[in-house]
Amino acid sequence: MANCVLVTGGAGFVGSHSVVELVAAGYSVVALDNLVNASMESMKRVEAITGKVIPAYTVDLLDKEALRDLFKKHKFTSVIHFAGLKAVGESCELPLLYYKTNVGGTMNLLEVMKENNLKNLIFSSSATVYGTPQYLPLDEKHPVGGCTNPYGKTKFFIEEILRDLSTSDPTWNIVLLRYFNPVGAHKSGTIGEDPQGPPNNLMPYIAQTAVGKRKELSVYGSDYDTPDGTGVRDYIHVVDLALGHVAAQKKLEENCGCKLYNLGTGNGLSVLDMVKAFEKASGKKVPHKICPRRPGDVGSCYANAELAEKELGWKATRGLDEMCEDLWRWQSQNPNGFKS
Ligand code: UFG
Repeated sequence: MANCVLVTGGAGFVGSHSVVELVAAGYSVVALDNLVNASMESMKRVEAITGKVIPAYTVDLLDKEALRDLFKKHKFTSVIHFAGLKAVGESCELPLLYYKTNVGGTMNLLEVMKENNLKNLIFSSSATVYGTPQYLPLDEKHPVGGCTNPYGKTKFFIEEILRDLSTSDPTWNIVLLRYFNPVGAHKSGTIGEDPQGPPNNLMPYIAQTAVGKRKELSVYGSDYDTPDGTGVRDYIHVVDLALGHVAAQKKLEENCGCKLYNLGTGNGLSVLDMVKAFEKASGKKVPHKICPRRPGDVGSCYANAELAEKELGWKATRGLDEMCEDLWRWQSQNPNGFKS
């Protein structure tokens, strides 16, 4: 039977780029999204990039009946589960919404998968499950669960649910992918990250500052124990991340049981490194001022990405300049995101 992958959250940032790479790798894909943080315009553009019609449904995972109907319409061979809310600050204000959406939505998905005897799943987790790093780089053996915000806890809880499920029934094949900081955009400049309102994350904020939508970037802290005092993260090009999902999908097909991989580059870069690289790529100034630390931030966080290379044959290859050039192409061609 030909592989048909259900992608939840397919219209979102990482979801849409993953759909492109899955289709390019020969998979047939069906996307669902509740469009709370995304627009169907991104799916239209994915179709333009791939030259393929991609069935896309506006379905909320909390609507179990709608999910059941979708499983009646299509015969899926695996699910890649991106759908969920992801704003750290918002999760502190609205914890119930986060637990219901992320954990409740995943529970419905798992139950409907089980009803359909579909037991192949890739889950979009986050390096946030490591909490404050006890050592760097972070490998998969680093203790987890020390997250300080509800968003991070939902990722950790879902990982735990999936591990328990795999223990109870080893015929499930589950790949947990812990993302570091996804940035950049597709080469075409037609799809990219489209945050609603002022961005919480660094790179969209830098890009909107360069294009003139924001006055200046606040650099949160210059007194961390890092080379220039600003926060260090492992920024990974979203297309590399998407290709990590194609590699994980191949792993599922080997009946892998429950596996876990970091998806990062292994390189730590500071806030000021990112500002400089973006200025170079865009030819624009990014006005910025040093501000106090942001509560909840850690000084440094970057991956040991060797396990994914060894077991998935996957490695991030796109460098900092390419991340910034591709983000700039998306931002400058679409100053208002998918609305422009
Ligand atoms: N930063 C600024 N100014 C800004 C935004 C961010 O200086 O306006 C700094 C932060 O202090 C941090 C770095 O830029 O040092 C990166 O911040 P982001 O918000 O882009 O990313 P985080 O590493 O804080 O968060 C990301 C994801 C979360 C996830 C977390 C841990 O966005 O979903 O990684 O994995 F929980």
